[in-house]
Amino acid sequence: MDTALGTLWVAVTRAGGAVGFAPDAPEADIRAAAVQAVEDVRAERQQLIVIGADHTLAGTVFLRTGVGVQAHRADVLRLMVRPDLQGRGWGRTLLDAAVAHATALGLEQLMLSTRGGTDVAGFYLRRGFTEVGVWPETLRLGPDDLRDEHWFQLRLR
Ligand SMILES: CC(C)(COP(=O)(O)OP(=O)(O)OC[C@H]1O[C@@H](n2cnc3c(N)ncnc32)[C@H](O)[C@@H]1OP(=O)(O)O)[C@@H](O)C(=O)NCCC(=O)NCCS
Repeated sequence: MDTALGTLWVAVTRAGGAVGFAPDAPEADIRAAAVQAVEDVRAERQQLIVIGADHTLAGTVFLRTGVGVQAHRADVLRLMVRPDLQGRGWGRTLLDAAVAHATALGLEQLMLSTRGGTDVAGFYLRRGFTEVGVWPETLRLGPDDLRDEHWFQLRLR
């Protein structure tokens, strides 16, 4: 699973997807993060919803439920669809599945962040998320490329 996730994550990153790495990030770093993410799922620190196509991994979304004072919420992480399969409704399906799963778990809120300079915010706004704040210049994509991090919240009840 970690190899398939790494392959998907590298392809999405190289295509400019905003999932934790700059487009030219070393492949080994992305694959190491994929190994860590799969370990987190195996250890039940995160939950993973996938979409497959032709027996390969085509899309993912992860949920990370909080602990302590954050136990009523989860972070939505690594929502990504293979670049050649984007625009077919699969991202929407993955996000809807994450919302349904979080609701079934009894969670009250979902949180996620997006990278400034992309147009993905509209995708979340149309799914009912509210933009609740901005962390200025907290993402560095390159020596002269600092981006804001935009935070979104969805109340489930
Ligand atoms: C964002 C992403 C997951 C959406 O998945 P997708 O399968 O391409 O999107 P869908 O076909 O389900 O489109 C769903 C809706 O979002 C819109 N949309 C999709 N990608 C969008 C984008 N980059 N910017 C703005 N709107 C977008 C579609 O027009 C559609 O509109 P609707 O809400 O009116 O129905 C996908 O484009 C992706 O993997 N991007 C790269 C990784 C990334 O940046 N992830 C976001 C991390 S915060």
